[in-house]
Amino acid sequence: MKRRRFLVSAAATVAAPAIVRGQNLNSRVQIAGIGCDGKGYSDLSEMHGHQKTKLVAFCDVDLARTQRIAKLSPDAPVFQDFREMLAKQGEKIDAVTVSTPDHMHAFIGIEAMRQGKHCYCQKPLTHNVWEARQMSMLAKQSGLITRLGNQIHSHQFYRTAAHAVQNGAIGKVNEVHSWCSATGHGKSFHIDRPKTNAAIPSTLDWDKWLGVAQERPFGEWKVYHPWGWRDWQDFGNGALGDFGCHILDPVFTALNIKKAPTSITADHSGMNEEVWPAQNTVRYVFPGNEMTVGSTLNVTWYDGGRQPSHRGTGFPSDHAFPKSGSILIGEKATMVIPHVGACYLSNAASLQELPGQNHYHGWVDGILSGEQPSDGFEYGGPLTEAVLLGNVAVRFRGQALQWDGQAMEFPNHPDANRYLKRDYRAGWEITPVAPTVAG
Ligand SMILES: NC(=O)c1ccc[n+]([C@@H]2O[C@H](COP(=O)([O-])OP(=O)(O)OC[C@H]3O[C@@H](n4cnc5c(N)ncnc54)[C@H](O)[C@@H]3O)[C@@H](O)[C@H]2O)c1
Repeated sequence: MKRRRFLVSAAATVAAPAIVRGQNLNSRVQIAGIGCDGKGYSDLSEMHGHQKTKLVAFCDVDLARTQRIAKLSPDAPVFQDFREMLAKQGEKIDAVTVSTPDHMHAFIGIEAMRQGKHCYCQKPLTHNVWEARQMSMLAKQSGLITRLGNQIHSHQFYRTAAHAVQNGAIGKVNEVHSWCSATGHGKSFHIDRPKTNAAIPSTLDWDKWLGVAQERPFGEWKVYHPWGWRDWQDFGNGALGDFGCHILDPVFTALNIKKAPTSITADHSGMNEEVWPAQNTVRYVFPGNEMTVGSTLNVTWYDGGRQPSHRGTGFPSDHAFPKSGSILIGEKATMVIPHVGACYLSNAASLQELPGQNHYHGWVDGILSGEQPSDGFEYGGPLTEAVLLGNVAVRFRGQALQWDGQAMEFPNHPDANRYLKRDYRAGWEITPVAPTVAG
């Protein structure tokens, strides 16, 4: 009997979800990892911990960074190019994890989904707004099981907070403030390209690491690869990109935020053309809904040590807010949601605790059952779009950018539209996903 395949029909770009369920219910979900160290190692180790998975192939542009993960599945072949891996091992691969630096999420994720692979992709879903829309459209059209890698979504802390707000613990919400202690550039210890360049490690294919980004020298170890890439506009998204999809996630879930912001205004501590600012404040205006007091909802983001004031929160000015987190100011009380910690209320009311779930296993279970878990790309896409719109606004300090989410443009600021999508390196372009009639 043929091994059960969790296949989607080859034409993964067609509208109708077409998961072909096999007969052999004892079969495992066969997973290939793309980006195998750093967070990739933890993603794949978690997937490996599910009883019905098998790690069948690994890809990392730096072969030295596949050694740890290979110990979990020594027979799995190792590749430096994910396209070669899909071409040679595609028949065996049901699903992929994408845990590379942000600038390659969409290029890899879209190709894998086009080949019918279920996809678990690290946060932020993509590096720019256009890519996020492409990923969520393709996920919707294909019926593939997807999940954003913001695992705290399934943690008891965030689940408890969202559940409590949904059940009226603070009443309708007036405003939200979210913040993160990390700075926009603090990982690479550079604010400009290094003047000297170390030899490229023999294990690393630097050209493939650059991928969609324009060529540049390797620099020094950790300036870009590994880890330091976060600081750089070409590869990462600073503190907002790194933490926004975590910290704003319980806000989006609790308040049913499904519509795009209509206006975004940013202030920051100064920036150049290379790295993200050390400190940001980004003010979003979202359309209101049944969870909000008014017809609009103000959500303000702070990073790099900036934090909201205590005014209107019901907490005394000497109350220390957590280093990172959110406050939701409601009609009845204010909720503080630490990142990552148990939420608490200004009126000290106790809350019903929800158990945590295994985010990684939830994706695997979704593949097995055919049911899309929460936090698929249809959720993670708009969340990522909102986060990354903040970084477009950062480029136009102090100017309110009006946003038309459906048309995907800034009607009052056409100049800003060019930051919705990058200039792809020749040979690394992403073919757009055709919208369906239903959108
Ligand atoms: N969910 C979380 O809590 C969490 C935590 C850390 C990082 N992340 C996310 O995980 C991703 C990776 O971050 P990191 O800290 O592990 O970075 P990293 O630089 O330490 O590791 C990235 C890995 O991907 C490999 N890689 C790079 N380009 C590749 C490509 N084109 N194909 C295959 N492999 C490639 C690198 O060689 C490296 O092994 C990012 O999107 C980041 O935002 C999420």
